[in-house]
Amino acid sequence: MTTSQETGMIDEGRIAADIEAIAAFSESPPEVGYSRPTFSEPWRRARDYVIAQAEKAGAEHRIDSAGNVHIRHASLGWTRRVWLSGSHIDSVPSGGKYDGVMGVVVPLEIIRCRPDLPLELVIFAEEEGTTFELGLLGSRAWAGVIGSDLLGSLKNRFGQSYLEAGRQAGVDPSRLSRDGVVPTGPHPDDEAPFRLDPSRYAGLVEVHAEQGLSLWDSRTPIAAVRRINGRRQYDLTIAGQANHAGSTGMEGRRDALAGAAELVVSLEALGKRLDRELPYTVLTVGSLEVSPNAVNVIPGMVRLSIDFRAQEEELLERGEREIRHLAEETASKRRLEATTKRSERIEPSPLDEGICRSLQDSAKALGVEIPIVPSGALHDAAVLSPLIPTAMIFVASRDGVSHNPEEYSRSEDIALAARTLAGTIASFPGGIGAQK
Ligand code: HGY
Ligand code: MN
Ligand code: MN
Repeated sequence: MTTSQETGMIDEGRIAADIEAIAAFSESPPEVGYSRPTFSEPWRRARDYVIAQAEKAGAEHRIDSAGNVHIRHASLGWTRRVWLSGSHIDSVPSGGKYDGVMGVVVPLEIIRCRPDLPLELVIFAEEEGTTFELGLLGSRAWAGVIGSDLLGSLKNRFGQSYLEAGRQAGVDPSRLSRDGVVPTGPHPDDEAPFRLDPSRYAGLVEVHAEQGLSLWDSRTPIAAVRRINGRRQYDLTIAGQANHAGSTGMEGRRDALAGAAELVVSLEALGKRLDRELPYTVLTVGSLEVSPNAVNVIPGMVRLSIDFRAQEEELLERGEREIRHLAEETASKRRLEATTKRSERIEPSPLDEGICRSLQDSAKALGVEIPIVPSGALHDAAVLSPLIPTAMIFVASRDGVSHNPEEYSRSEDIALAARTLAGTIASFPGGIGAQK
């Protein structure tokens, strides 16, 4: 274990303490998992913990109009061009301690140890999409890709929109762009960092748990990430006819759940076939709602979600056609009606090769050879990658488990990610390829 004196003070004990402190802010007990919906009380307390820790180290914070939190050491000011590093603190229901949180704690630790480095920590709101129906909301709003119309239509479990629930967390609809009106380009200094001005950032590096098996199995502590899978999500309803379970014969039923069950198994087979064609292709039915959901009623309606991801847009396009065809075909042979609505389409994101190579060089200077890998999971980095030079650092996940309270990464591996990122920023304070 390297002592903090040798490596510019990055301290794995402090990183572990931050992870535990943030994990304590949860709606569910640890044995069930960590639940931190965006703008909930646990979310605000976790955010305030990070702000307080940063302020203790001489940093300041600002909250932008989408509720994202930006933190810089006071010595940098808000107009200097800097690197960006951050992730999310919202979680899936009963999730793990490390997903997102690791990517917030690493830049926090760098700000503590290297206040001289040009670095801004960002906490993006609603990355997961399990609080307000769609993901990557905070980063997309900051980037001007979405605006107040969409954020006003997405509701949480209490029926509050993102704008209503976020009000006391700093969300300000009057400063948000309207959908489609993307205010890009330079803005006056006093607007920083309320909306993204790409010219003010040298690059973004998001540190994240791999949430897959390859690093852990190969005993590789960290890796640079060169590409993020594209993701399409769908909201699918299958309509049949509710009827009496006791007096309706088996022939001729229009059972929506039986049709949905057949479709789920067919979609799994499609996902396996497409994965054999192009690795890292995945297809998941994660949620299912049955109505009227009663023991003695033949289900009349089923609503299910589909999450489909691949490295290439061509495969996503072709796969979508097959998904729609499978739904139609399965429904029609059972005299059911299938309606498939695409709720999200995010293209695959190539990341910055130059930053990846610099991360490899920084790790090498610390005595570690690291690979460059793709990401199956989606991240806020995908939203920013078309706008500023972007890459990620993955940290090995024990047994590849994530979105689960068993999620775990070693503190020494997270500390290595912090030292590697600090090395790249120190080597290229103005960005890769910029004048030193
Ligand atoms: O779904 C994802 O890939 C991420 O965990 N939000
Ligand atoms: Mn995540
Ligand atoms: Mn996640």
